[in-house]
Amino acid sequence: MNMRPLLLLVLFTYNSVLAQPGPAQTPSFTTDQKIQALISQMTLAEKVSLLHGNSKFYVAGIKRLGVPEWALSDGPHGVRAEVNRHDWAYAGWTNDSATCFPPGTALAATWNPALAYQQGLVLGEEARFRKKDILLGPGVNIIRSPLCGRNFEYMSEDPLLVSRMAVAYIKALQTKDVAVSVKHWLANNQEEHRDSVDVSMSERALREIYLPAFKASVMEGGAYTVMAAYNRFRGEWCSENEYLNRQLLRTEFGFKGVLMTDWSAAHTTVKAALTGLDLEMGTDKNDYNEWYFANPLIKAVEEGKVPVSVVDEKVANVLRVMFNTKMFDEQKRAPGKMNTPEHQQAAYNSAAEAAVLLQNNGKLLPLHFDKIRSIAVIGDNATRKHCSGGLSSEIKALYEITPLQALQQKFGATVKINYAQGYEKQSTFKEGNNSGQAGAAKVNWKLIDEAVAVAKQSDVVIIFGGLNHDFDTESSDKQNMDLPYGQEVLMQEVAKANPNTVVVIIAGSPVQLTGIVHRVPAIVWSWFGGMEAGNAVADVLSGKVNPSGKLPFTVPVSLAQSPAHALGNFPGRDLKVNYEEDILVGYRWFDTKKIQPQFPFGYGLSYTDFSLSHFSTDKTAYGKNETIKATFTIKNTGSVYGAEVVQLYATDPVCSVLRPEKELKAFQKIFLKPGETKTLRMTVKVADLAFYDESKKAWNTEAGEYILQLGTSSRAIIQKVKISIK
Ligand code: BGC
Repeated sequence: MNMRPLLLLVLFTYNSVLAQPGPAQTPSFTTDQKIQALISQMTLAEKVSLLHGNSKFYVAGIKRLGVPEWALSDGPHGVRAEVNRHDWAYAGWTNDSATCFPPGTALAATWNPALAYQQGLVLGEEARFRKKDILLGPGVNIIRSPLCGRNFEYMSEDPLLVSRMAVAYIKALQTKDVAVSVKHWLANNQEEHRDSVDVSMSERALREIYLPAFKASVMEGGAYTVMAAYNRFRGEWCSENEYLNRQLLRTEFGFKGVLMTDWSAAHTTVKAALTGLDLEMGTDKNDYNEWYFANPLIKAVEEGKVPVSVVDEKVANVLRVMFNTKMFDEQKRAPGKMNTPEHQQAAYNSAAEAAVLLQNNGKLLPLHFDKIRSIAVIGDNATRKHCSGGLSSEIKALYEITPLQALQQKFGATVKINYAQGYEKQSTFKEGNNSGQAGAAKVNWKLIDEAVAVAKQSDVVIIFGGLNHDFDTESSDKQNMDLPYGQEVLMQEVAKANPNTVVVIIAGSPVQLTGIVHRVPAIVWSWFGGMEAGNAVADVLSGKVNPSGKLPFTVPVSLAQSPAHALGNFPGRDLKVNYEEDILVGYRWFDTKKIQPQFPFGYGLSYTDFSLSHFSTDKTAYGKNETIKATFTIKNTGSVYGAEVVQLYATDPVCSVLRPEKELKAFQKIFLKPGETKTLRMTVKVADLAFYDESKKAWNTEAGEYILQLGTSSRAIIQKVKISIK
């Protein structure tokens, strides 16, 4: 049927409705009709005005047509404080202090998508309160190297774990009529030379490792916007990459939203326009009219280099996101809320569930504060606040409780707390210049001697060490995996002085723990914990909260074990990096190559014990379109309430191509009272056992035997079941 006369009629009717200027509100119109009607009324200049920023985080609206201004804000773990319209200074507002969640790796360490969902709801509400329409998150890049400065903002080395958390976050956030922006599309796995490096990888690595979280974010999460990364991918800038932006994002994923640049990641007008970029943000030119998608785009259309239909397509994408987030119907939008007790509780819940108990020799933890007379609290991170660091993800938190504050407030009345700084933050970090990390290994013996003295006077010692946002930060990578500032020496000396020493690692990316694992009995990894960091870690140490986090990445013994470093391709050479480790990222590498890491992916202890049993599948043989239903029984065999994350890995022992030793296919976090038993089910689609077959350019589930492995980490497999695929 020829739709054209119908559309013209619709437009005619619609235009008369719009005689009184006002947004596209004709109830009988579909969204697409409203969009087309609006576009038909726009001049070229008006169309183009919707396709580039007119300040740091805003895009102009079109007043006469009722198209509202678009307001964007950084995330991903809080709504960033208001930045001036035309420079990067903060605007100094008094109502923009916000709830600060623990960043990405901490969220992933909870292995609990319900918490990602909660976070999405809170961020949506706070974004609405701040009148923001788009929140720039989640960050779903894969953690490829322990050194990437932005690991803390990302989530995991495993695509399934990232996907599950991202989808929950996106779905929740967008129910609040705020769009997400999934970033950074694609292969922004290092900060070094991020704005010039050219990444190459096999099609298989792309499909199996680096794409799934983006695909799930768009296809399952329904993400309204995506942010193109700074780097090049296979020779082309991500912001003008035909393969990424047209073929994968638009055609394969069916993305109908807005593809925006990262801030100042546009490079051309015509090519970017033709390859599917919609919105240019952050370009470093004071006159917004000079941006690639401003006057030069008008000129390109006038010269016939960019068809007007391409501009219309972009405008339609912008308007579609505006309709999806009810921007034309402001009174119907979800109401905003800021800093409610519920928001703060959600931030606390994430921090508490993120903590990973790495080691607990002699059951030193939990600490029985009712029986302890004195504790030494040592370390710069006992008093350091982290929410305001990391660059674009920094949050002006309404408050941030440090570990020392929380311990004092919870136990100070009955327990004597002796504080010593222990080590000193020596780096003077400047954006884009990681030389600030130099001197990071310096040992300050005066501080160590003071720490040893307080350790000797105390029943128990807690050292809060790890990193800070001079290391875990946007814009530069770590130079090594060491614990900086001579902390190892501090920890060793203190543990000699008092064997009852607990080390708490506060960091968002892997650090080397070899110098301390054999010297201190107890280690907890508590991440950057957001505004409730101190309360959460204090409750974990005291046993009020039973740790239930699991590592979302492998902690190598040394950097050289880690795949990209073992192969010498991080951060690349001559502005090129080839991901030679291919699909063997993270535990896929360690397990396949039989390398013993310090702590494996998915690992974390509890104050209680669990038993896993009765692992079975509903059938022994499956067709390729079927779903495997696996059941298992889990029991809390210890004496306290707690949670276990049950992980289901799959192995394809005989295959025409190399397969990783195991791949995570499903997981479930289960809370159990002491003595409680549950029989539960996890499902895996047979299709998800496939590998990406480069020869067929398609997913391939080869017939034959597969092994399903049920465990509590990638290295703690409790039961296996063999199945066959027909
Ligand atoms: C970062 C993005 C961020 C943007 C706006 C860029 O430097 O890479 O993640 O959203 O700045 O602040």
